[in-house]
Amino acid sequence: MNQSKKAAGEKAVDYIKSGMTVGLGSGSTVYYMLQKLGRQVRQGLDIKGVSTSTQTSAWAKEFGIPLTDLTDGVEIDIAIDGADEIDPECRLIKGGGGCLVREKIVGFYAKRFIVIAGSSKMVDKLGSFPLPVEILPFGHEITAGYIQALGAKTSLRRQGNGQPFISDNGNYIYDCDFGLLENPHDLNRSLHGVVGVVETGLFLDMAHIVIIGEGRDTKVMK
Ligand code: 5RP
Repeated sequence: MNQSKKAAGEKAVDYIKSGMTVGLGSGSTVYYMLQKLGRQVRQGLDIKGVSTSTQTSAWAKEFGIPLTDLTDGVEIDIAIDGADEIDPECRLIKGGGGCLVREKIVGFYAKRFIVIAGSSKMVDKLGSFPLPVEILPFGHEITAGYIQALGAKTSLRRQGNGQPFISDNGNYIYDCDFGLLENPHDLNRSLHGVVGVVETGLFLDMAHIVIIGEGRDTKVMK
């Protein structure tokens, strides 16, 4: 058990009120949030979740959290998600679990996006964690070549059996090492200019609240 992740995940549940539609992120910190949210649902908290991954959907089912689809007219009141790196301006790298596209859609549409993480995820500058980029399988090696031309060492993410990792959207993930990022906004724009790139793991100007777990304590950044 990771106490810092648990503290951050559980604290985020305080922001969820009856009647809300809640974006449910992915990863082990989110697991702790779902566990506590499930207990509150059993005690009468009336919410609906929008899941960002098949794993999160399975956990929501296990904990008795009702889910709804992201269809026309659904408004996400709050989304809660983990992160792989967080800088002092609350900019994030996400996608370590390969769920970045759905996480970004749900976080972007949410009225409030809350990030939860253990304190080890805080960095002075983004980029030690290679940036996950989701790419269409068609022509992916050529797409990766264009990303290399932007300055990255790229690595096609693979499963334990050596086969390419396939995202929930049927795409590949390239982990892209650009070194420390001097200008994440410029990089994000450049990556979006490469045909074949579906989405990047740079979550910029998105987080409204960041909850950092430090042992059993939490610190909130806005
Ligand atoms: C998945 C993610 C996760 O939120 C991120 O990898 C953090 O995971 P964890 O809470 O397990 O440290 O972006 O795509």
